[in-house]
Amino acid sequence: MKILILPDPAAAVARCAQIIAQTLTETPQAVLGLATGGTMEPVYADLVRRAEAGEVSLERMTSFNLDEYVGLPPEHPQSYHTYMAERLFGPLGLDPARTHLPRGDAEDPATEAARYDAAIGQAGGIDLQLLGIGGNGHIGFNEPSSSLASPTRVKTLTSATREANARFFGPDETVPRFAITMGIATILRSRRAVLLATGASKASAVAAMVEGPLSARCPASALQLHPSATVVLDTEAAAELELRQYYETVHPKGQEVMLG
Ligand code: PGA
Repeated sequence: MKILILPDPAAAVARCAQIIAQTLTETPQAVLGLATGGTMEPVYADLVRRAEAGEVSLERMTSFNLDEYVGLPPEHPQSYHTYMAERLFGPLGLDPARTHLPRGDAEDPATEAARYDAAIGQAGGIDLQLLGIGGNGHIGFNEPSSSLASPTRVKTLTSATREANARFFGPDETVPRFAITMGIATILRSRRAVLLATGASKASAVAAMVEGPLSARCPASALQLHPSATVVLDTEAAAELELRQYYETVHPKGQEVMLG
């Protein structure tokens, strides 16, 4: 794992956006795995800014999002279809045929999950998978106890996740109980993974992911098995890493290239 520690959230976001932009510059037709959540909002704003400035184009990429709530149709205001349309796909006018999310309103969510997993394979697999991390160590909606060999499937959300995500829903709305999520095996098949975490609320999950045992208790720890995983952190999210000084020596100021 490459552990890149940036001085503040804005620098971590910019570093993450830079990695995505660099991938698209090198491979404009790259297949991206995309994430949602509060952490990703400034990343997409940064990418839209870069695209509008002519620094990068997302027009030829194909994307597959990590997850979607079961029961929400694409046009639901809290669906991840809407999240992506509002923050990235709409502002850039991307071809909807190239941007994929699981259908939360599918008649049979289990069949939809299997179809989605197969569609990723048919597209050639994911070149760059973007990830956030939950305070409980989830990636996608792979909650603690998820099989580290899991394919895309339906998962029951924990009460901690539903509480954390309640802020996106109105006071009279309930957070869905189930989601379709890419599995851990699906995520591990990506050619490169970049996980962004900012803020003190992520510090213990980040430490468990990077330095803890490989364990379904912290599903993100499965990234220890990924051949090319980069973890981009601000100092608060990095605060509980025991080997932090070492990471800062290997990657000074979050630069990827080892010096000397
Ligand atoms: P957040 O969610 O960015 O809203 O904290 C991350 C996640 O749950 O994966």
